[in-house]
Amino acid sequence: MLKASDLKWWQKTIAYEVYPKSFLDTKGQGTGTIAGIASKLDYLRSLGVGAIWITPCYKSPMVDNGYDIEDYYAIDESFGTMEDMDALINEGNEKGVRVVMDLVFNHTSDQCPWFVESRASRDNPKADWYIWRDAKPDGSAPTNWRSIFGGSAWEWCKERQQYYLHTFAKQQPDVNWECPELRRALFDVANFWADKGVGGFRIDAITYIKKPAVFEDGPADGEDGLYPVHAATANTPGILDFLHEFKAAVCDGRDIFTVGEANGVSADELDVWVGENGVFDLLFEFSHTHVPMGDAELWCRPATWTLTDLKRALSASQASTATNGWYPAFFENHDQPRSTVNFFPAGTPVKPASKALGTVLLMQRGTPFVMQGEELGYGNAEWSSPDEFDDVQTKGQYEFALSEGDTPEQALAACRRFSRDNARTPMQWDASAYAGFSTAKPWLPVHEGYAEENVEAETADPASTLSWYRKLAALRLSRDELLAGDYAELMAESEQVYAYRRQGEKSAAVVLANLSNEAATYDAALVEGMELLAGSHGETELGALRPLEAVVFGTGEA
Ligand code: NOJ
Repeated sequence: MLKASDLKWWQKTIAYEVYPKSFLDTKGQGTGTIAGIASKLDYLRSLGVGAIWITPCYKSPMVDNGYDIEDYYAIDESFGTMEDMDALINEGNEKGVRVVMDLVFNHTSDQCPWFVESRASRDNPKADWYIWRDAKPDGSAPTNWRSIFGGSAWEWCKERQQYYLHTFAKQQPDVNWECPELRRALFDVANFWADKGVGGFRIDAITYIKKPAVFEDGPADGEDGLYPVHAATANTPGILDFLHEFKAAVCDGRDIFTVGEANGVSADELDVWVGENGVFDLLFEFSHTHVPMGDAELWCRPATWTLTDLKRALSASQASTATNGWYPAFFENHDQPRSTVNFFPAGTPVKPASKALGTVLLMQRGTPFVMQGEELGYGNAEWSSPDEFDDVQTKGQYEFALSEGDTPEQALAACRRFSRDNARTPMQWDASAYAGFSTAKPWLPVHEGYAEENVEAETADPASTLSWYRKLAALRLSRDELLAGDYAELMAESEQVYAYRRQGEKSAAVVLANLSNEAATYDAALVEGMELLAGSHGETELGALRPLEAVVFGTGEA
């Protein structure tokens, strides 16, 4: 059994995702800046945060808000300068908030000089840096793969008279990891940032970097006659060889951590990805977020699910990292809707839901990742027209829904429910215009409830979601069993309560969260000999939970 003193720094902290375009604007331009992040390091410390994952802020045409990188060695002007970034890294290191950069290594922007060169001819020095294929004899695309953002995954290039593959948008051509010079160029990028003193890397879309030896059509799964590129290419055998090379070239010997984004890896495969013989320290796998969304991730065909489905997925991930590797717990990120909508039935009151789910998150075994704004407890954006959405994927899903025969109202409802923009609205700092995010009109509208749901107001309110997050963060960081102890699920069959025990060497805690909107009961023997450490509704009656009430009990000594 682990003790807190056995853990590395990134295992005993809380991580926080910053979506820089929406965090804080110090330039009066309606989009966020690096200097804005630096000015909020004390706020992050107040939440117990020791690592901030910043989504890509490199020079980019911003087709996918930075996930289309033009220059890995430059900061996009809209965010500031390299000096701003150096200052953030250094000040963060001094204050104990280490910066985690996002490495987008499956693709670049089509404006990246590497691609501009590669597309120019079939025999230039970078000709093999991307995935080029000839057309089928009838001139059509090499395969019927559908990109993750919708439409064919192939785009015609007239200079080369060939198609290139793009797993995501057509402005995001996939690089070719089979080419050793390309791999070297990527590893150089990572070393450049590691040498600056960052605390780690989040590695984007990593399951797609290895392509199958033979490219073949797959059975169509929609009216468009296409087959998901994910099914055709994700997690192709041999992928781990590339990543072991990355680890040896970049990570070994450095005091950093890596977290891979691995859609398509299941909990029972984690042991080859993380831990002693793995390639990363942590892996975002999505078995639990697929519960409400459904495996196909087609928004117009959501899944039906129950609480036990969600709990099973989370407990499977816990089991697979119990003795090897480490789990990055999360319910939200910039690709998910707000969790208070995603994991609860329509009509559930948002504030108690956010506190109950936040309890589950912050008490999990592993390193919790909080998405900016999640700690304030609000819901989805609730826009009334498809034109209000900005996200490239949302637009693709809207079109796909229409092509499947959905009415515009149904297609819009799917976007309101699942759009990535829901998590990307500006951070709510105070009740002033634009929530204190900017003095100019923000690039996305501020969430409508911001006058009450903001950092300033919630700091003053001991019953707010933010105050609850701060309380639980402090509790987590002060108790051995919450940092390092084992995880054992309790009441696994309950469709109302998510409960688990954290067992440390000398202390223990029991977490009970009623995730339903009805009163629930539990066996008081589960918490016998323990005291109430935190209660979302204040004092609590033993054996009973009010709707959406969450409690943490613990032994006297930790
Ligand atoms: C995953 C990122 O999280 C998402 O935002 C992005 O659109 C895709 N990868 C493509 O880079």
